[in-house]
Amino acid sequence: MRQFERYLVTSALPYANGPLHIGHLSGAYLSADVYVRFQRLMAKDILFICGSDEHGAAITLRAAKEGIQPKEIIDKYHDLFQKSFSGMGISFDMYHRTSDPLHHETSQEFFKTLYDKGEFLEKESEQFYDEQANQFLADRYITGTCPKCQNENAYGDQCERCGSTLSPTELINPKSTLTGKTPKLRKTSHWYLPLDKYEDWLRKWIDEGIVDDVELHDPSDWKNHVLGQCKSWLDGGLQPRSMTRDLDWGVDVPATIPGSDGKKLYVWMDAPIGYISATKAWAKENNGSWEEYWKKDDSALIHFIGKDNIVFHCLIFPSILKAHGAYVLPVNVPANQFMNLEGDKISTSKNWAVWVHEYLEDFKDKQDSLRYALIKNMPEQKDSEFTWGSFQEANNSELVGNLANFINRVIVLTNKYYDGVVPEFDEDMDLIGPESQTEACYHDSELLRLFDDLHVLCDAIRKYDFRGALKVLMEISTKGNQILQFNEPWKKQKELPESVKVVMNLSLQYVTAISVACRPFLPFSSDKLREILNLEPIKEDGEFLDLLNDLAEGIHPLEAGHKIGAPSHLFTRIEDDVIQAQIDKLGTKEEEMENPVKTEIHFDDFLKMDIRTAQILSAERVPKADKLLQLEVDLGFEKRIVVSGIAEFFEPEDVVGKHVCLLANLAPRKIRGVESQGMILMAEDDSGKLSFVSPNDGWPNGMTIR
Ligand code: MF3
Ligand code: ZN
Repeated sequence: MRQFERYLVTSALPYANGPLHIGHLSGAYLSADVYVRFQRLMAKDILFICGSDEHGAAITLRAAKEGIQPKEIIDKYHDLFQKSFSGMGISFDMYHRTSDPLHHETSQEFFKTLYDKGEFLEKESEQFYDEQANQFLADRYITGTCPKCQNENAYGDQCERCGSTLSPTELINPKSTLTGKTPKLRKTSHWYLPLDKYEDWLRKWIDEGIVDDVELHDPSDWKNHVLGQCKSWLDGGLQPRSMTRDLDWGVDVPATIPGSDGKKLYVWMDAPIGYISATKAWAKENNGSWEEYWKKDDSALIHFIGKDNIVFHCLIFPSILKAHGAYVLPVNVPANQFMNLEGDKISTSKNWAVWVHEYLEDFKDKQDSLRYALIKNMPEQKDSEFTWGSFQEANNSELVGNLANFINRVIVLTNKYYDGVVPEFDEDMDLIGPESQTEACYHDSELLRLFDDLHVLCDAIRKYDFRGALKVLMEISTKGNQILQFNEPWKKQKELPESVKVVMNLSLQYVTAISVACRPFLPFSSDKLREILNLEPIKEDGEFLDLLNDLAEGIHPLEAGHKIGAPSHLFTRIEDDVIQAQIDKLGTKEEEMENPVKTEIHFDDFLKMDIRTAQILSAERVPKADKLLQLEVDLGFEKRIVVSGIAEFFEPEDVVGKHVCLLANLAPRKIRGVESQGMILMAEDDSGKLSFVSPNDGWPNGMTIR
């Protein structure tokens, strides 16, 4: 593997249009976090960058649906993301956002540079236009039937069923997402990135890791499914891809470019540049250099993403970086596949998801239990599945039964036998090793075994095999348990106290090693464990490297004579009823009100209405209109004619003499040829039945209601 001076790790910028679920976590965030924490523990210079993706149709469509401004949506979710990520211990060095002016500048500079270098192709084409919404329909603004797999809900840019990339005009039976109408074609002009022209170098880069005769990475380090997707794209032939959109939300095409009016950057042009903006923001806050990470060829850029983002990170963004020049290309894009939930695809609209913010509320202080279950099942090579049952099982039998149990036994016995002081021991004394019950082993040889296991764990992480690495961690704990089990210190303490010292000292070295090695996966437990051991908390500043160096030199990571702390439980059982409650929650939506309260208004809005008490003087049916009664009402100061849609429920003779409330300043309108001068207020029940809203009998007419 190539050696790098520094690492820049990115996680896909999540769209700020809905909360995070476990699929997000297990895809691009937890994986990156394990990797980054590990590299910090190995004393590497590494920066971990992310932020909210706040442009694109994902945001504007959501805003349109809720009838609010995009800004409200992005602020809400940007906030929630920050809480969810930090709640789960995702340790970004910078969490930025693409609505930040720094990002707008950065992405505009990119666009301008590509434009000035003549990289773009300016092209007029016919695109779908929604005449009712007065808007061009790109990407998710249009749905229709996928020409490849016949999925009826394919988007204008992509079919989520078969994964093909589409252009809106390929869709069969296209419909506007905004109005449901069939759109018309209209001429518009955009700037295209000629991906077809980059095909040759992209292919060489993907296949061989070589660009301009320089070897940048070893493709055999890349995941098969990532290479597979890239190759199938390349084999299918790349098309020029438009880098701009006719939208009113997004990064403006720089005003100095002729024809920029009303044009925004395509969200997949601006969002990945968000990684650069975020690095700049980090540099500003930390007095660092962003350019070192992006422009030096001994910097490793690594993108953690989900598989739906592969083409953007492996073909399009690298093309943008290379077209701009001076930037490094990613050395790896360890994309994950998808995580399913209880036998089904995770679905936001069906509420088939485990929401991170809800988990954090329901399972306080159990972040590591979820981290563990998600890493254990991480969809690294193929789709995987999360079930609450397997989560419970992982927590109860592995974290409680194996890891916490081992640690607890060691801490309890050390406190009991030695008053918490790590015992000295006789180096020549043998013990029964974990691997074999018959052969005698020695303290030092057992520590070397631990050293080997830790190496295997490190190598797995370096290869993005986090599941494998986590398994090794648990095997180390299993071996620790076996050392206790085979040597039975609780039986031998009386007759063979010197032998027990060897066993206990060795076990304490195991626990200490675990406090470091568990850190990438279980950071919260690592903190607790360090406290139990009465050791400095881990600062992720080379501690794993120090541990390996110590072990290599035969130095015991935990010195004899050190006094540890009191036992406390690292993990606790999760009971059936708690799990059942979570399963029951799946697929149920918070009671959606059939008739939700309307959008807030101001007091001034209310004051505009002039509602008065009134009395019905006479009533007659409106000819040929089943629902209408023509009423004469007395307002005290004047009489009016009102046409009211109440005839289904009231006979004319029933309503004469009724005291009612009348909206008196409603603009008059003609109904069936009769001018109606106001509106009588009615209460309506769920079935549509009406009832008068009446002041007390005898109340004078013409009084103001407010
Ligand atoms: N917002 C995109 C998604 O959720 C990911 C953007 S990644 C970036 O699928 F590179 F564009 F930032
Ligand atoms: Zn399809």
